[in-house]
Amino acid sequence: MREIKGNVIVGQSGGPTAVINSSLAGVYKTARDRGAKKVYGMLHGVQGLLEERVVDLADHITNELDIELLKRTPSSYLGSCRYKLPEIFEDQEVYKKIFSILEKLEIEYFFYIGGNDSMDTIKKLSDYSILNGSKIRFIGVPKTIDNDLAATDHTPGYGSAAKYIGSITKEVIRDGLVYDQQNVTLLEIMGRNAGWLTGAAALAKCEDCEGPDMIFLPEITFDVDDFMRRVAKLHERKKSVVVAISEGVKTADGRYVCELTDNIDYVDAFGHKQLTGTARFLAEKISKEVGCKTRAIEFNSLQRCASHIVSRVDITEAFQVGGAAVKAAFEGETGKMIILKRVSDDPYICVTDLYDIHKVANVEKKVPREWINEAGDYVTEEFVNYVKPLIQAELTPIMVDGLPRHLYYTDKVK
Ligand code: F6P
Repeated sequence: MREIKGNVIVGQSGGPTAVINSSLAGVYKTARDRGAKKVYGMLHGVQGLLEERVVDLADHITNELDIELLKRTPSSYLGSCRYKLPEIFEDQEVYKKIFSILEKLEIEYFFYIGGNDSMDTIKKLSDYSILNGSKIRFIGVPKTIDNDLAATDHTPGYGSAAKYIGSITKEVIRDGLVYDQQNVTLLEIMGRNAGWLTGAAALAKCEDCEGPDMIFLPEITFDVDDFMRRVAKLHERKKSVVVAISEGVKTADGRYVCELTDNIDYVDAFGHKQLTGTARFLAEKISKEVGCKTRAIEFNSLQRCASHIVSRVDITEAFQVGGAAVKAAFEGETGKMIILKRVSDDPYICVTDLYDIHKVANVEKKVPREWINEAGDYVTEEFVNYVKPLIQAELTPIMVDGLPRHLYYTDKVK
């Protein structure tokens, strides 16, 4: 094994997941086992790094039990950010500052666990590093519940969110059947411009459950009037109608359906609008126009941090991509992201590999049209076959006094 001279730094960025801390554990444990002197954590990603908010992880994660707890703790242990670096040719001051902080900490290896926007950060930092003759290695560790990163078969975080969505969709369908009264329930699911998560509602369709009646993904233009007609038709013949709908569905003029509610007021550094209110808007319309009891259920942040029902496949792969990133960087790689390559479905086998960050950053991977039915209101069997292996098996939380125990960051050094 190559001797590791410099230090390591790792950060988490973008929306949290149920398993992003398993990747952090993978980076930390592998770096330590391979002889890294110090492993630093950036608090709140690059934004915190710029304020020199950095901690020595050995002061906080002190034993094997901490590592196990960290793996099972949802959300981002180190805190996160949505921070966009300027283009290198536009403004170099921020880069100079970052590199001078990294030099001060004697960093040789930089890992960033995140989605699309975070890979943009790795791309820019590795480009700047090469242009300026720096020896620091930059590797991206994939994560996002949205599953919209290019090149990788799937992203850690997606499998657990999909498992949660499939499970609670079954529960909501059961609940909708309880009274002898007609009702329509709309489930609003995250995923921004990609329908991977919303499509996972189809997992609820199994031996003991008929699944949702319709599923609307952002890949298909949403026609509000046509939607109303379809709901009314289903309502005529069914007691309980359940529809899964993406937060990111857009009308033909390119507006998000949730923008029709005029309740959007927040846009982040990457220009992403906060998407919320699609289900509420449509449920109110159904109540008024179809005249029945409706419920709008926004899965919201519940779907991205549900570590009590984590997929064992997912949490294991999340750890593996962290470890693979360290191995790659220690072997001299830079400007790459770790990807997952599916070798087979049955038995499910997936391996890690490396991919050029320039081909990943800022590319959104959408659900292929052929994995959506012709009517545009459900996903196909191929879609379900793709997701199923990713939700398999469980990893029980460490329960204390009836509740899952988490490892949380505190600035009090242990
Ligand atoms: O990062 C993924 C994601 O969970 C999207 O599905 C969702 O639209 C977005 O984050 C919400 O972001 P925030 O937590 O910044 O509001």
